[in-house]
Amino acid sequence: MQFKDRAAIVTGGTRGIGRGIVLDLAKSGCNVAFNYNKSSQAAEELCKEVESCGVSAVSYQVDAGNFEDVKGMVKEVKDKFGRIDFLVNNAGITKDKLLAMMSESDWDSVIDTNLKSAYNFCKNVITTMMKQKNGSILNITSISGVSGTAGQVNYSASKAGLIGLTKALAKEVGKVNINVNAIACGFIETDMTAVLPEEYKKKMTDLVPARRFGTVEDIARSASFLLSDSAKYITGHVLHVDGGLAM
Ligand SMILES: NC(=O)c1ccc[n+]([C@@H]2O[C@H](COP(=O)([O-])OP(=O)(O)OC[C@H]3O[C@@H](n4cnc5c(N)ncnc54)[C@H](OP(=O)(O)O)[C@@H]3O)[C@@H](O)[C@H]2O)c1
Repeated sequence: MQFKDRAAIVTGGTRGIGRGIVLDLAKSGCNVAFNYNKSSQAAEELCKEVESCGVSAVSYQVDAGNFEDVKGMVKEVKDKFGRIDFLVNNAGITKDKLLAMMSESDWDSVIDTNLKSAYNFCKNVITTMMKQKNGSILNITSISGVSGTAGQVNYSASKAGLIGLTKALAKEVGKVNINVNAIACGFIETDMTAVLPEEYKKKMTDLVPARRFGTVEDIARSASFLLSDSAKYITGHVLHVDGGLAM
């Protein structure tokens, strides 16, 4: 129960990696708030699952890219839990197209959901964490933000932006005992990758030294480590959890 009586916000908690992180934190005694886009039933079920771990859960149907809505959510979470120890910026989408075919709205929606969201949440939790003189922020980025992926200029830019944000913010808040890190995921089995053609998945798997896609648990365990006191002296770091793909 390493996170007993602590409180976390996880963005995009209803499915995939976010859901895995919510559950891993809850199993370690952490109270968890999460938001989502449209999966209200999944949110309700996840709250019940979290509460069965003996901790509190609260969910919000809040667009991570909307500053005012995020501000309201963060205030409610602070009022409910009395503190915010952890922030995991996980909410993300893809709108893959070659640049020649990519519309302005494909660009804007991916940047807003994947990158502006992290600004929205960091900005609204940071004062609380600074007053506590304690906090950990974790940004879920991608190896696409490290190496770039054809067909994903919007997504790759958003994920590279998250890496820059991670390092800059780590330098700003290290002195008040707040660490800021990122996980660069490789291919992970979630709804996001379920839509990829089988042939492409097979080709990508052959490129992964570990010869498999990662699981949600692979990411959730790494996330819990980076948020834990054991990782308190690690900051501004981008941990590749990718089976070796981006070596
Ligand atoms: N899966 C991979 O291989 C992979 C690889 C590299 C990086 N990542 C990153 O890992 C993160 C999670 O990915 P995933 O594969 O778990 O995705 P996923 O299964 O598609 O789940 C996405 C989650 O984000 C939420 N979400 C989407 N738009 C939102 C918005 N505007 N506001 C609030 N929540 C929103 C979704 O809510 P709803 O359920 O309501 O739609 C859902 O809970 C993303 O940032 C992704 O870029 C994933």
